[in-house]
Amino acid sequence: MADAPVLFFDSGIGGLTVLREARVLMPGRRFVYVADDAAFPYGNWEEAELRSHIVGVFEQLLERHQPAISVIACNTASTLAIAALREHFPGRSFVGTVPAIKPAAERTRSGLVSVLATPGTVKRQYTRDLIREWAAKCHVRLVGSVNLATLAETYMRDGFVDEEAVRAEIAPCFMEQDGRRTDIVVLACTHYPFLANRMRKTAPWPVDWIDPAEAIARRALSLLPRQDGTEPFSGAGDIAIFTSGNPNPATCRLMHGFGLKVENRARP
Ligand code: DGL
Repeated sequence: MADAPVLFFDSGIGGLTVLREARVLMPGRRFVYVADDAAFPYGNWEEAELRSHIVGVFEQLLERHQPAISVIACNTASTLAIAALREHFPGRSFVGTVPAIKPAAERTRSGLVSVLATPGTVKRQYTRDLIREWAAKCHVRLVGSVNLATLAETYMRDGFVDEEAVRAEIAPCFMEQDGRRTDIVVLACTHYPFLANRMRKTAPWPVDWIDPAEAIARRALSLLPRQDGTEPFSGAGDIAIFTSGNPNPATCRLMHGFGLKVENRARP
């Protein structure tokens, strides 16, 4: 069990924003990173199909990798399927990633908060319940972006992003009302922190961008059995799996940059 890996799961490369925090907090752990790229982007899927698709992928992942814990490093998947995963696999431990609405409501001074997410996360009941429970006193605007996750993938792969496209995607986050302005934008898709610099640059005024990656990694660490007395791993055993079985060379280079060896087969 001490050697059991921590599994990270996302539709693409977004979960790497959480993995990089986990690496800092858990230097002795072995990591398996799973990109369900055959199904990317999750944002546009019908809910029932996506839920059963994710549960089906996990049947194989859990069987094959026997992780100590699985981190669903994807808001679109977590807000839809975390309860189903816990129900289907009761002996397994899962950490979800859900929009950081509570910290945003605690931190805002203007009371105007935006949640930037995929169209899937924006329409989830889970997200609406979080707002009702934690942010009833704020004006929360849900902004569903069709293109940002893909722009983040392209940026990380090719090193280039169209800034005007980023500007257009984030523009609806910025509200002005009775002399007050939006002061917090919740990054509720794990792909988006990769574009944080471009977002800062193209934003009409400065805001706090909330990236929950470190908090998720801390939560995962808190649920793991202690590793006292074991030798730290070198990271040499860390792997990335792509459900397409066919990531392009630029994506493979990116994975290598994150210390992950890409497995060349479709089986998750
Ligand atoms: N990274 C995913 C999230 O956190 C979603 C990207 C997508 O598949 O649309 O929501």
